[in-house]
Amino acid sequence: MDLFVINGGHALSGETRISGSKNAALPILFASLLTKERCEISNVPELKDVQSAYDLLNRLGKNCFYGYGNFIAEEHSEINPIAPYELVRKMRASILAAGPLIARFGKARFSLPGGCTIGVRPIDMHLEAFKQLGVEISHDKGDVLMTAKKMHPNRIKFRFPSVGATENLMMAASLIDGETVLENCAREPEIEDLSAVLVKMGAAVIGAGTGVIKIKGKPALNGFSHSVMPDRIETGTFMLLCAAAGGKITLLGADSKPLSALIRAMRKAGVKISCGKGVITVSAEVSRPKPVSISTKPYPGFPTDLQAPWMAFMAQCSGECEVHEKIFENRFMHVPELARMEANITVMDRKAIIHGVPGLMGAPVMASDLRAGAALVVAAAAARGTSIIRRIYHIDRGYEKLELKLRELGADVRRRKDDGSIK
Ligand code: UD1
Repeated sequence: MDLFVINGGHALSGETRISGSKNAALPILFASLLTKERCEISNVPELKDVQSAYDLLNRLGKNCFYGYGNFIAEEHSEINPIAPYELVRKMRASILAAGPLIARFGKARFSLPGGCTIGVRPIDMHLEAFKQLGVEISHDKGDVLMTAKKMHPNRIKFRFPSVGATENLMMAASLIDGETVLENCAREPEIEDLSAVLVKMGAAVIGAGTGVIKIKGKPALNGFSHSVMPDRIETGTFMLLCAAAGGKITLLGADSKPLSALIRAMRKAGVKISCGKGVITVSAEVSRPKPVSISTKPYPGFPTDLQAPWMAFMAQCSGECEVHEKIFENRFMHVPELARMEANITVMDRKAIIHGVPGLMGAPVMASDLRAGAALVVAAAAARGTSIIRRIYHIDRGYEKLELKLRELGADVRRRKDDGSIK
């Protein structure tokens, strides 16, 4: 296992390029299961989660090639619609194979998915909605078995705007004859990117990015070529890194539009942000930010995936503020680790109260999940002294070449093998 050694307390400067979005790329990779034709996807980040999708697609019978930001999916033999535990447990987004498999083959078997341990994260909304399209569901030894003689369109209302359920159902409906209407959909920009792909494949999709999505499917879909949108969570993480450590950085290939909730909150805290076409510049004084309270919400609200990095930034605020986590029930696991770096944060159920401290101090800490890991990197870059961040395999799931990009911005970060010699 690797770890990061970060000597913090240096202001950042310079520029770095934002990668393709992990959360947009994953559903698009699984959309390749909807067709036997060749699919070409570019601007794909090199990440553990993309590797997991590659492994799963190959196991299902796709012939995939992946490297230098390009992902090609072809099909030279029969697909076996069984997604086994040892692959699915690595990543929750594996559930996104279910919609394409059941719609195309009338059967699918998959293990319940793994991923970050930030809450219960059930898949009941996915399964309930599949049932409404004519899928029969049963369970066997921890696997979900789905069969459907003929799927039919329907009008489905989600009880909560789930990103994954919206994507899964959009993909399944794209192969169903007739119009499926999805209500109370998630409105995340990654859903619009998937919609663009499904339209390229031949489905008629209207309303992605709003609460109601209408999909008219086709009996067979085409291959496609698509470039993945920039990663708004990686962008936000770098913005918070600069805000916490101080300095001035420019993010290239970044889109500010889907980050308006973050940008508003950062400006209130006193950070200067200027946005141009594909460029965001952030500049922050090394002095303490003003306290700003936030609540995470479905898009376009403050993203839950930036809640932990936001707390690392606010840990040094000049007062007191609150963070409400409204999406996941167990997403404060970074708090005890931030406390090791002298942050003063009290958690009460889904609310955290941050009592700002004058400065963070480097310490040995451990990443408990992907975004908690990102928060520790933000805190370590701002802290005086050396931090050792362990279990960075979580961070590698979602941030492409993080330490290289940080070094481009002048941070003192090294990746080392965790052989027990580093205390
Ligand atoms: C996606 C993102 C993840 C982000 C999350 C919320 C990807 C690959 N991952 O995850 O980074 O944090 O959106 O913005 O895009 N829920 C249920 N039943 C279900 C499905 C979800 O109760 O069937 C609950 C979840 O436990 C959670 C909430 O709904 O509390 C939101 O989850 P969802 O939007 O589905 O998140 P993901 O698609 O898993």
